[in-house]
Amino acid sequence: MNDKIKLDISGALQAAAWVEGEIESNRSDLAAAAQAVDAKRKEGLLGFFDLPFNKEGAAAIKQTAEYIKGNFKNLVVIGIGGSALGNRMLHNALNHPRYNELPAGKRKGCPRVYVLDSIDADYLKGLLDVLDLKETAFNVITKSGGTVETMANFFVLKDMLKREVGPNRAAESIIATTDASRGVLLEIARQEGYRLFHIPGNVGGRYSVLSAVGLLSAAVSGIDIDELLSGAETAVKDCSAHDPYKNPALMGAALHYIAYQRGKSISVVMPYSDALDYFGDWYCQLWAESLGKTKHVNGTAVPVGQTPLKAIGARDQHSLLQLFLDGPDDKIFTLLGVEKRQNSFIIPPPDGAGNELQYLGGSTLEKLLASELEATESVLAKRGRMCLRISLPTVSPYTMGQLIFFYMLMTAYMGELMGINAFDQPAVEEGKRITYRLMGRPGY
Ligand code: PA5
Repeated sequence: MNDKIKLDISGALQAAAWVEGEIESNRSDLAAAAQAVDAKRKEGLLGFFDLPFNKEGAAAIKQTAEYIKGNFKNLVVIGIGGSALGNRMLHNALNHPRYNELPAGKRKGCPRVYVLDSIDADYLKGLLDVLDLKETAFNVITKSGGTVETMANFFVLKDMLKREVGPNRAAESIIATTDASRGVLLEIARQEGYRLFHIPGNVGGRYSVLSAVGLLSAAVSGIDIDELLSGAETAVKDCSAHDPYKNPALMGAALHYIAYQRGKSISVVMPYSDALDYFGDWYCQLWAESLGKTKHVNGTAVPVGQTPLKAIGARDQHSLLQLFLDGPDDKIFTLLGVEKRQNSFIIPPPDGAGNELQYLGGSTLEKLLASELEATESVLAKRGRMCLRISLPTVSPYTMGQLIFFYMLMTAYMGELMGINAFDQPAVEEGKRITYRLMGRPGY
């Protein structure tokens, strides 16, 4: 298939003369990072590499998706962090922008999909106000099986559901996605007889969107998950070399790494597409939780990490761009463009007044947005700001699969380059323990 996403680094190379030289001088470190990732993959530590090839898993997910489609009008995903953001990203990218508001016929009979990752009581009440529990299935997702936010929401909803439909129907309405061998959710699921999906032990939360975590709710809403996986499979193959000029994920990591070493402590991702809005949120979690770490160098604790920031084109040109251009040179930018959208709108010429806007007449909204991306790229380059561009031929399951895998792998490479573990989140765990204490959990 020719629908490949493209990484264009010319803006970064033009930004400063040192960029190309530093790619060269870091070549051996880049090859070592790629080798280390390969070695970890071979050791079975990086399960996210295997997900695109799990056809059997995809078949089981599609079967359960059919069951949900046949029996329910709504699906609520209950999770948080890596157990929710990927679901939001896929739904936002690949479903109609007003999917839940469409009549069932226009959703091809697929259930509405909601993601509950907030423990704000007002937010939950708002969701309950639009749901009929009798017609709603719940996919509770937590790898550890005990995340407080997820389990608190789940307990509230399970209790309501049981009272509304009775314990048997409630058990038929709940699908649990969790670790295969441990955790409270696993125990409850077995005890109460829920349908169950397992998250492989070697797949961390923020690397799990291509497992049952992200795929079930996607399949329920009619997204072609085979195409999504096939896109990721393409990226696995296209990003396997140890030479950055032959491996776009390694090149992406190289540029972010040398930018970081030159004081660019912020990585801005700026999609010129509303469909990629939640991709930006997913990216922020991936980059922040994976790379924001304390590194121990010669017995000293050194905080490291590059702060991710999402901006949306063209909206944030009227909000953040002034800072990006005139503010401190502490950022590396990635603009995401979409070559072909599903829809087109011709802009009619203004009648009467508005002569200075005549030039818009006969053009299209897509051309305007594409021109704004070009303009931002060029003005960033003129200021010497490092800027990459990723182009998606279209936003489709196949291109999203590529984009997702590209970013997960780039993050893994970046972790190696920075000399940290990109797969744990020790500081978050510390915050969790304090919450337990505040909530009165014994032993904390
Ligand atoms: O990426 C991660 O590991 C985290 O963001 C987790 O996904 C998040 O903390 C939720 O954890 P769990 O799936 O165990 O409920």
